[in-house]
Amino acid sequence: MNLRPETEAVHNANIDPSSGAIVPPIVLSTTFEYETTGNEHAPDELIYTRYQNPNRAALENSLAKLEGGAVAHAIASGSAAMLTIFQALESGCHIVSSDDMYFGIRVQLNEFFAPWGLETSYVDMSDLDALRAAVRPQTKLVIFESPTNPMIRLADIAAIAEIAHASGALLLVDNTVATPVAQNPIALGADIVVMSLTKYIAGHHDVLGGVIIFAEEDGFAERVMRLVRIGGSVLSPMNCWLAARGLQSLAYRVRAHSENARQVACFLAEHPGIERVLYPHHPSHPQYELARRQMRVGSGLMSILVKGGRQPAIDLVNRLKLFTSATSFGGTHSLIEHRESIEESSNTPANLLRVSIGLEHPADLIADLRQALA
Ligand SMILES: Cc1ncc(COP(=O)(O)O)c(C=O)c1O
Repeated sequence: MNLRPETEAVHNANIDPSSGAIVPPIVLSTTFEYETTGNEHAPDELIYTRYQNPNRAALENSLAKLEGGAVAHAIASGSAAMLTIFQALESGCHIVSSDDMYFGIRVQLNEFFAPWGLETSYVDMSDLDALRAAVRPQTKLVIFESPTNPMIRLADIAAIAEIAHASGALLLVDNTVATPVAQNPIALGADIVVMSLTKYIAGHHDVLGGVIIFAEEDGFAERVMRLVRIGGSVLSPMNCWLAARGLQSLAYRVRAHSENARQVACFLAEHPGIERVLYPHHPSHPQYELARRQMRVGSGLMSILVKGGRQPAIDLVNRLKLFTSATSFGGTHSLIEHRESIEESSNTPANLLRVSIGLEHPADLIADLRQALA
């Protein structure tokens, strides 16, 4: 039967044959009895939890299926996912990165990998001519987020995949903000999808995790798999179990986050205290048409530019009652953050607040914003 993603998500775990439990048990054992001694082991034989674990295997299968990939690796965080990809590249490789990535990725590339011999060029991915000019024969990887964090800009995945492939580079898309509910980069030409599971996938502010998904099990995918298993930055059984549980309600949560965010964006876009709302599913966003073409639904992440500069933005955060002043996004609670204060070497405008719209009722969120802006 060809099941839709919502149905697949609920039925992603088999009933436990030893107990009949519908919810899979968490397997904490670090080691597993050998099936035979003195012979070669089958590739899927459980041996040691750093190599594989039943909870990790279940989560990885679900995520690979959801993104249309051949293989997935669940890893300790979204940042560890990117770190592992960079570690798998050889010295002398060149990377073209979006100039608006989660700031930690820029820190990895500039502070740790540049001295290892990985060179990075930063481009605005909405400028395809700039991208064409930046790729070189040594370019191994083109990387970007769409939408970006925190400027909420989009990139045309199919168009960029064509440019990357024409120069012999792999395309890696960070799909954390959009989620597989909104878009599947592999279907649009990406070779690798990375996500922080910490955000929408786990969805409840209680899991740190990441995943790397490959469109094909090629040589590079094999090298990354070996780095994950030999290096050991794997996701723990408990966090795999929690992320797999989050997957079951992902589609419904993302649709609610998106609808709540759309209503909040409409309110804020009309408010005289707000200079601009950055939300791709609001018609004021310069890439609204691309958002409608490329994404099936929005997300709960937006940024707002507050009129008057840095201090009025900080004052707004302090007057809110339902929005928690905290980092991260993608969970049940609405969060708001003055981004420039926490980003290292940031180009983020001083009056920008990043807002993660949660699963509260949108009318309550709007009422809170109205009183705080009054
Ligand atoms: C788009 C994006 N990718 C990756 C990461 C890193 O994820 P993690 O915090 O799980 O390491 C973040 C963190 O905020 C992010 O916003």
